[in-house]
Amino acid sequence: MIAQTGSATLGYDDIGEGAAVVFLHAFPLNRRMWAPQTSALAGDWRCLTVDFRGFGDSPAAEPFGIDRYADDVAAVLDSVSVRRAVVVGLSMGGYVAFSLWRRHANRVRALVLADTRAGADAPDTRERRHELIALARREGVAAVVDRQLVGLLGKTTRERRAEVESAVRAIAVNASVEGIVGALESMLQRPDSSPTLPTLTVPTLIVVGAEDVITPPKEARAMHEAIGQSRIEVLANAGHLSSVERPAAFNAVLNEFLHSVESAD
Ligand code: MLT
Repeated sequence: MIAQTGSATLGYDDIGEGAAVVFLHAFPLNRRMWAPQTSALAGDWRCLTVDFRGFGDSPAAEPFGIDRYADDVAAVLDSVSVRRAVVVGLSMGGYVAFSLWRRHANRVRALVLADTRAGADAPDTRERRHELIALARREGVAAVVDRQLVGLLGKTTRERRAEVESAVRAIAVNASVEGIVGALESMLQRPDSSPTLPTLTVPTLIVVGAEDVITPPKEARAMHEAIGQSRIEVLANAGHLSSVERPAAFNAVLNEFLHSVESAD
């Protein structure tokens, strides 16, 4: 489906019935990465997935920015008359979840922070992002996807499930160069969200793949210590894309968390 907001056209899906859950994707993927979750959970929950501008079915449109992505998500929620949702963000989706909390706290019923980090970019990450921007402009989307794929999947998935890598590549190559450059610049400019952690007063689940080398378990544990109402799940044999690599395990902890949020309200 397509939502038209002030400055963007946004691809989204709205599947199932029940309490709303909105899923925010990683870089450089799109909403299709959440298919293993929406297909399993839509029997009990209303699952919304949104493409950030420049990814999937959302054409690139300036201005970019993590806050802009968060405002776009709020606009999609408006367009489908959802007042509050559980927000599930993986990696870059987690950065957007922090921004949603800062800018639209009344829309956030609970949070799932998967394979993400609160801190701003370290100097080596900043350098890598500038290299990726140059690579995207010089060689296009496929070159960026190939470079990024190396860290996205855990060792176990790479060794035992080659089909996951092809599935992730097939999703990621739908990005546009403008979208990729816009997202890299947005991540470069994003603020440190560490001061946001103690302000999170909604139930929060932190999920991380034990083999995540981009946002490793120690980052997840640091967030867990800083967020009062949080719990943490470390998924064995999964890397950075834990929801894609171990969908059944991810869905089980997510579903249990959603039920706990429902019964606490
Ligand atoms: C992602 O998976 O969204 C990216 O790895 C995030 C990042 O590069 O910081």
